[in-house]
Amino acid sequence: MTGQQSDEAMKSNIERAGKLILAGKYVVGITGAGISVESGIRPFRGPGGLWTEHGEPPMDGYQRFLADPKGHWEQRLKRDNTMSEFSQTIEKAQPNPAHHALAELEKLGVLRYLITQNVDNLHRAAGTKKIAEIHGNHRKLRCIQCNSRYDGEEISLETLPPLCPHCGGIIKSDGVSFGEPIPSDTLRICVEETSKCDCMLSVGTSAVVYPAAGFPQQVKGGGGTLIEVDLYETALTPISDVSLRGKAGEIMPQLVNYIKANL
Ligand code: APR
Repeated sequence: MTGQQSDEAMKSNIERAGKLILAGKYVVGITGAGISVESGIRPFRGPGGLWTEHGEPPMDGYQRFLADPKGHWEQRLKRDNTMSEFSQTIEKAQPNPAHHALAELEKLGVLRYLITQNVDNLHRAAGTKKIAEIHGNHRKLRCIQCNSRYDGEEISLETLPPLCPHCGGIIKSDGVSFGEPIPSDTLRICVEETSKCDCMLSVGTSAVVYPAAGFPQQVKGGGGTLIEVDLYETALTPISDVSLRGKAGEIMPQLVNYIKANL
């Protein structure tokens, strides 16, 4: 169901959400593709979604990588599949007011940690420091054996697949492929931060992909509070204490202003 809220309803919901965040002892944020739509990156699902147009990708992306890592790298370097459109928009994208709002909440000491499903690096570009990129970062490469991460230029692509300078394991993009387990170090941080969290702020995620979608439910299940910012109803709407319906880039600065004025 769609429908942006009236200004009056939005104002009172911003106040309710702001009060819950200020009452939170350990506030954690979770974001999805929706927060980067106003930076020119398409979401995956819903209106205008990449998967809505092309269909969800096969769930065995990682198994196919393991079956032929050299071939995968050759394909990647040729950049001739659907994903190249996505990669190109990511390369050009800049953080928008919603990314900056979350970075400011961190600076204010209000937001303790941020979990993002986005690989676009825009939270880091906006200045967020305490962040777990649960699906990886498109700018990085990762060893599938020891989880060491590298910037692209640190790894020679003369021989394919490239191997880890640290342990000799196979290197792949840091982006988590479908069917690939979440890297254990990142997952551990997400689980730890969620277990400390008594108020979760969810921005721009349909909350249908696990394990990320389970974190807000866990916070609610543990007696915590949940605030959702999304253009449309999501899987979290029924369990959210406050749903702010509209564009993240317009709503998040208002929420930060309320919090700053009442700190
Ligand atoms: N402001 C706020 N919310 C928005 C905006 C906007 N401007 N535009 C879209 N949205 C919302 C949509 O209504 C939707 O609920 O953002 C959400 C995006 O959902 P998805 O496209 O499903 O993205 P996400 O939840 O991040 O997907 C999770 O699925 O395909 C995998 O690995 C991919 O990380 C991704 C994961």
